[in-house]
Amino acid sequence: MTLNEIAKRMCAKGKGILAADESTGTIAKRFKSINVENLEKNRLNFRQTLFNSSAMKDYIGGVILFDETIKQKTTLGPTVPELISKHGAIPGIKVDKGAKPLAGSIDETITEGLDGLRERLKEYFDLGARFTKWRAVYKINDNFPSIQSIKSNAHALARYASLVQEANMVPIVEPEVLMNGSHGIEKCYQVTTDVLNECYNELEIHKVDLQGTVLKPNMIIPGSECKDKSSSVEIAKKTLDCLKKNVPSGVPGIAFLSGGQSEIESSKNLNEINKINDSNFLITFSYGRGLQASALKEFGKKQDNIENIQKAFNHRAKMNGLSSKGEWSEDLEKISAA
Ligand code: 13P
Repeated sequence: MTLNEIAKRMCAKGKGILAADESTGTIAKRFKSINVENLEKNRLNFRQTLFNSSAMKDYIGGVILFDETIKQKTTLGPTVPELISKHGAIPGIKVDKGAKPLAGSIDETITEGLDGLRERLKEYFDLGARFTKWRAVYKINDNFPSIQSIKSNAHALARYASLVQEANMVPIVEPEVLMNGSHGIEKCYQVTTDVLNECYNELEIHKVDLQGTVLKPNMIIPGSECKDKSSSVEIAKKTLDCLKKNVPSGVPGIAFLSGGQSEIESSKNLNEINKINDSNFLITFSYGRGLQASALKEFGKKQDNIENIQKAFNHRAKMNGLSSKGEWSEDLEKISAA
């Protein structure tokens, strides 16, 4: 398969990406919220339960894994990447080493992980990965994001993407403008515009073939502390407008992060975007919390109740699959959950 074909399969209509690549530190927070001990066997148990669910075949085009997970053997027999492939989804891997303090800027970050990346990519390819993820993080307040943060993170994303294509995998380019803060929707629109422009500027300089990439952006939404709430219709209009103006048309797929929106909000907003999507982009989800929150709650109640955990996950995957076609509704949400 060419990189373009892989990218299109990851974002195929009706399907999206499961972001199950929480680092050991991040999954610790998720497990703490449900009173589950953060042990390797518990992490594997939760994840293999999701990866072996019936929703995988119909609604999941790709799964993003963490370094530990891609090397694990499931208790069902196959390795984790084999289990994912068996269900028809493509295994992927988060390759960045996290957002670290950015020297010269107070309270901003630069995503690290370029040293030794070429060698790690070869190892991940051999383990079955066919796409990768690298997440840059931008904060909004009166002073941020700084030009320094916008430029340095775009440069790192482009160097990453170029190495990934050299290794014959599809890079997910994830510049996440955080929703934390009291800023309004217009500010999110402006900052996302600046961030996307700089990213595509650097991707071009680094000779990245955009046809073999997937963009993972934030939606255009007001800050979580903003008093002026926006409707899904407004969020959808502004998000699509921002993407059409700032993402080159060669990019085949755009898969949003949920970024702290609730499960229902993230499904509803994605649905509204697809209802009005008149672009050539395949627009879908690449959710972590937006796909896993309910399943995680079930796992917290009883870790070996596979049926209930999978039921919760199957439902969310199905709802988001519908949203990727603009066919989700609140009624279907209730009927399917019953
Ligand atoms: P959320 O959907 O929980 O924001 O996670 C997506 C992700 O992979 C962030 O990098």
